Amino acid sequence: MNVLGIESSCDETGVALYNDRAGLLAQGLYSQVRLHAEFGGVVPELASRDHIRKALPLIRQVLADAGLGLGDLDGIAYTAGPGLVGALMVGASIGRSLAWGLSIPALAVHHMEGHLLAPLLESPRPDFPFVALLVSGGHTQLVAVAGLGQYRMLGNSLDDAAGEAFDKTAKLLGLPYPGGPELARLAQRGDTRRFRFPRPMTDRPGLEFSFSGLKTFALNTLADVPEAERDDQLKADIACAFEQAVVDTLVIKCRRALQQTGWQDLVLAGGVSANQRLRQRMGQECAKIGARAWYPRLEFCTDNGAMIAFAGCLRLQAGEAQDLAYGVRPRWPLDDLAAPSAGPDVAPEAGM
Ligand code: KG4
Ligand code: ZN
Repeated sequence: MNVLGIESSCDETGVALYNDRAGLLAQGLYSQVRLHAEFGGVVPELASRDHIRKALPLIRQVLADAGLGLGDLDGIAYTAGPGLVGALMVGASIGRSLAWGLSIPALAVHHMEGHLLAPLLESPRPDFPFVALLVSGGHTQLVAVAGLGQYRMLGNSLDDAAGEAFDKTAKLLGLPYPGGPELARLAQRGDTRRFRFPRPMTDRPGLEFSFSGLKTFALNTLADVPEAERDDQLKADIACAFEQAVVDTLVIKCRRALQQTGWQDLVLAGGVSANQRLRQRMGQECAKIGARAWYPRLEFCTDNGAMIAFAGCLRLQAGEAQDLAYGVRPRWPLDDLAAPSAGPDVAPEAGM
C-alpha cells in the first residue's frame, strides 16, 4: 500500500510517500522560516498562502523521487488538526481532492498522533506499550500509549507548552525566530552554574507541567543585571539555566510516568525532542532505571510529512477513511482518538 502524506498544520509544508512493506520511499519538506522571520513569528495568512504555492510542486517532486506516479497511490493522509485553520485547510483540500480524483480513500490524521508515532519510523523501534512525551510548540503532554489510537493522557501543560516557553524566552533574549533552536545553540556557550532556575511543579506529586513562570524568571534575571553589563555571555548563561530547568523538569516527570505505568519504554517526539541536552539527559536517566528512551531522527522531530504518511498508512491499512465532507479540526484533543475501527466510516465510493 502506497500512502501519500501531507503536513500543513503550521509553518512547514511536508510531503512523504510511505509503503507498508518497504517503509519510507521519499519525502520532501519546505520550511517557511525565512518567510515569517521578519515578523518574529508565524503569520497564519502568509502560512496558508505559502502552503498553496508549495504543496503541489512538493507532491510532484516526492512522487518523482520515489519513481511513482499518481496512479500508484492507494491512499492519501493529511493533517486535519490541531493547527492553524487556514493552513490545515490547504492540506485537507489538496488531499481530499486528489483522493477524489483518483478514487482512493483519504484519511484525516491527528498531528500529535503523527509526532507520537514518528519514532516507529526508525530501526530498531519501540514496541507498544510505551510512555510518550510530546513536546512541541503547542503541546507538552505525557501519554500512556497502549496501541494505535489507545491513548491515555497522563499529564498536560497548564499554561505554555515547552516549545512555546523556549520561543518566548528566546524572544526576550533578543534571539531571532524560530527561538527554540537558537536558544539551544546559545545555551551551549553558557555557564551551567551561574544561575539556577526553578523546576516548576516538581515539588508536588502529579504529571502536570507549567512553563510560563520560567519565562518570567528569565525576564527578571535579565532585569536584575544593570543594562551596561548585559552582554552576550549573560544571555548565554540565562539561556543555559533556562534550558537546564526545562530539561530537568521534563526528565523528572518522565521518570514519574514510567514508574506510574510500570513500563520500560519512553518515546520523545515533537520539535523540542530535537534538543540535544534533553536527548542526552533523558537517555542517561532512563539507563539508570533500566528504561529505554526512543527518539525520531532529528529531521522527524519537527513537523514533517513522513509521520503523517506513516500514521495514515497504519489507519488506512486497518480500513479507516472518512467521507468527502470531513472537515479540519484546529482544536482536537489527542484522547478523542480511538483505535482504528474494523471498517471504513464510509467507503470512499459512497462519499462521491
Ligand atoms: O513539532 P514542531 O515542529 O511544531 C509544532 O507542532 O509545534 O515544534 C516546534 C517547536 C518550536 O517551539 C521550536 O522552538 C521547538 O519546537 N524546537 C526546539 C528545538 N528545535 C525545535 N526547542 C528546543 N531546542 C531545540 N533544538
Ligand atoms: Zn508539530
